[in-house]
Amino acid sequence: MINFDFHKYVSSYVKKEDKVEYLDKAREIKSRFVEGDLKYWNKLDTFISSQELKKLVNMTDYIRSNCNVFVVIGIGGSYMGSKAVIEALSPMYDRKGPEIIFLGTNLCSEEYYETLNYIKDKEVIVNVISKSGTTLEPSIAFSLVMDLMKEKYSETELKNRIIITTDPEKGDLRELANEKGYVTFTVPPKVGGRFSCLTAVGLLPIAVSGVNIIKLIEGARLSYERIDRAIEYAVIRDVLYKKGKFIESFTVYNPKLYYFTEWLKQLFAETQGKDKKGVLPISCVNTRDLHSLGQFLQEGHDIIFETVIGVDKDKMVTLDKYDMELNSINKIALDKVGLAHYNGYTPSNIITIDEKNEGTIGELIHFFILSSIVGALLIDVNPFDQPGVQEYKKLINEELE
Ligand code: PA5
Repeated sequence: MINFDFHKYVSSYVKKEDKVEYLDKAREIKSRFVEGDLKYWNKLDTFISSQELKKLVNMTDYIRSNCNVFVVIGIGGSYMGSKAVIEALSPMYDRKGPEIIFLGTNLCSEEYYETLNYIKDKEVIVNVISKSGTTLEPSIAFSLVMDLMKEKYSETELKNRIIITTDPEKGDLRELANEKGYVTFTVPPKVGGRFSCLTAVGLLPIAVSGVNIIKLIEGARLSYERIDRAIEYAVIRDVLYKKGKFIESFTVYNPKLYYFTEWLKQLFAETQGKDKKGVLPISCVNTRDLHSLGQFLQEGHDIIFETVIGVDKDKMVTLDKYDMELNSINKIALDKVGLAHYNGYTPSNIITIDEKNEGTIGELIHFFILSSIVGALLIDVNPFDQPGVQEYKKLINEELE
């Protein structure tokens, strides 16, 4: 379960009267999620069909027993969600199953040179993920990896080793899959990259890592008044924004959640940062960043608020010196840093999961997806497009052509 504390270290910045003006809009937004055009996002039932889920589970078993390197090619929403969940829920050392390598997130020759050399003598299965099928970085990565795969495997064997996740009907990757007979999974047309973690886009790499995707989906589907919480959080963010808090730090106290904050940055930046509006998301991994960004949050320009994600129960490490659990000290740090920042004009929303596991990570994913959409609606921007991203893609492609 998630516990929300949007009060303790926020209260003097966001008062009851600040929220009154949102009542009508919040009511209208809620009805869109409960019974209107946004119902899809509230229910999650259609993110992946039971048939596709079954195929994905079978494919996971096949991948885990037939390769030692699983290369996942994608950028933005096509990789960030799975990377976040895998890092959050996998052991740090001695991970079981194939090594998962993400490619297609940059154009750096050094990275490709080293990675292609590293995988050339390994048993490789590739999952290329692109909704549009035309994004430059993954398409370059895919062509480099395919050159290698063609040297290593026959045409017939490639059908067992190339998996394409893309639009159900259109795009270059769909055409290639149809022509060559490669296995495919679909990105539901309504679901943009940054919202696709709980579709085949995120679920296949996550499942290959050994994380239990059924529990992840169950957590996301767990029904409570999540939309109410998402609206409350979005309203608080908007009140803070209107009071000059233009930057939000997603702050965690467990380094395994670092990529989760990266996913959050992508989710909120692409969903809300348009028409010269939106809060700029940054992140802190504490207590490390208390010794760098922390100084700014405490005493620098007064334009930041935090959303802190805490974990209540963690692995048991006892510290004889204080006769205490290390996690208790971590929680004291979270609380006292919250207080210090609050006193230094940086308010914090505190969100606590009771334990870090598939269920709670699934809950958080769905909560933040809802919140990001609600936040965009509050500032009257379209949550579902990313014209800025399209613009840079277009300019590079024009130059290359
Ligand atoms: O959230 C988004 O829509 C983007 O970040 C996309 O995921 C990203 O640009 C990659 O696009 P595509 O999956 O079409 O290659």
